[in-house]
Amino acid sequence: MTPHGDAHPRESAPATGATAGDLLDKAPGEAARDARRGGPDREPILEVRGLVKHFPLTQGILFKRQIGAVKAVDGVDFDLGHGETLGIVGESGCGKSTVARMLVHLEEPTRGTIRYKGEDVTKLSGRALKAVRRNIQMVFQDPYTSLNPRMTVGDIIGEPYEIHPEAAPKGSRRQRVRELLDVVGLNPEYLNRYPHQFSGGQRQRIGIARGLALRPEIIVADEPVSALDVSVQAQVINLMERLQDEFDLSYVFIAHDLSIVRHISERVAVMYLGRIVETGTDTEIYEHPTHPYTQALLSAVPVPDPGMREARARILLSGDVPSPAHPPSGCRFRTRCWKAQERCALEVPALAVPAEFRHVSGPAAHDSACHFAEERQIVPGDTGGTGDAADTGGTGRTGGTGGTEEGGAGGGSGGGIP
Ligand SMILES: Nc1ncnc2c1ncn2[C@@H]1O[C@H](COP(=O)(O)OP(=O)(O)OP(=O)(O)O)[C@@H](O)[C@H]1O
Ligand code: SF4
Ligand SMILES: [Mg+2]
Repeated sequence: MTPHGDAHPRESAPATGATAGDLLDKAPGEAARDARRGGPDREPILEVRGLVKHFPLTQGILFKRQIGAVKAVDGVDFDLGHGETLGIVGESGCGKSTVARMLVHLEEPTRGTIRYKGEDVTKLSGRALKAVRRNIQMVFQDPYTSLNPRMTVGDIIGEPYEIHPEAAPKGSRRQRVRELLDVVGLNPEYLNRYPHQFSGGQRQRIGIARGLALRPEIIVADEPVSALDVSVQAQVINLMERLQDEFDLSYVFIAHDLSIVRHISERVAVMYLGRIVETGTDTEIYEHPTHPYTQALLSAVPVPDPGMREARARILLSGDVPSPAHPPSGCRFRTRCWKAQERCALEVPALAVPAEFRHVSGPAAHDSACHFAEERQIVPGDTGGTGDAADTGGTGRTGGTGGTEEGGAGGGSGGGIP
């Protein structure tokens, strides 16, 4: 636990050039995560099927008429097991936050179901919905803007009790808030301070304490460490891992940093333009990716070891991510995929174990939405936990401005690789 004391405990990045991956605890968080792996499939606490969110595009000032829709999320399926961490990665604008917001009911799905312990929460209203919402809480990306600057920390963390008074009797709330501050490694006596009196990492701890106030079962964390310094990222991730064990939490963890997602997640879903394109255990996704998009994302992860860097395949995609208002027909990745063929424009590839891997056992046999899925090891050996952040967001490109560092033999319009 972080020592209590001054308002800004050691949270600046170290001068050694260490990365978040280097700084993450291997124990007990990782040990506990490893111990959880490989067991029998856990009972799903959340089952998401056919989730769609279309934002209407309108024209006109007085008489608005719909001229189209931004297909932010367009048919997403996944399960979250009890006590599991599911990581969701993908470039900026692929729909990660929209999925997160639908899970916690901040956004109404256009279509699809979200089953919590078997019950479709999209159909609930009133008291039943309120009870479910209590159990699925969110931690937001930006600790600077997600905390009301005019409220004390005590009021911020205790705010959920105003909406769910049954969660803590009025007389016990201050004490509960103190306990929550202690649990997230902050001095319980800070409850009368304001957010600006805390550093970024501490503010995110306050955000996590607020997320825990109602003792939820599921936490949806949308880029919870992206706004923080590298060394602080590691502290917050280690805290989240400890809290997961302590409070028996299930996490949906969204990020564009592949090494952090790998560290914390047992399963990973890769999103592209509103859909999940590949999903599997972290070993399946990071060491045996079969979808070209995942392979391109992995090839952009910085590798600190010069020998490994040499051996690593580098895939540079050309072209921008298409607009979610006009996604390409068939496979949405086809406009940037070096393997694209006619079939890719005509048929939407299903997210399933590809036919060629169906009769083999092993890590390549996992769900991949590609007609021509092929296993390809991008970084020899272990790619997780040692590299820097691979920032796949912001530019709309993966690994540069197009072309390739390798000779191209593939068809299609993307950067070719052999
Ligand atoms: N309220 C809205 N109205 C219209 N379009 C929206 C709205 N919210 C999101 N979008 C669009 O939906 C798409 C997905 O957005 P979303 O925020 O879910 O992406 P993201 O994967 O979280 O991106 P980032 O990594 O930048 O956070 C984007 O094209 C975005 O512009
Ligand atoms: S090969 Fe075809 S189906 Fe597979 S990712 Fe490329 S465009 Fe999509
Ligand atoms: Mg987002």
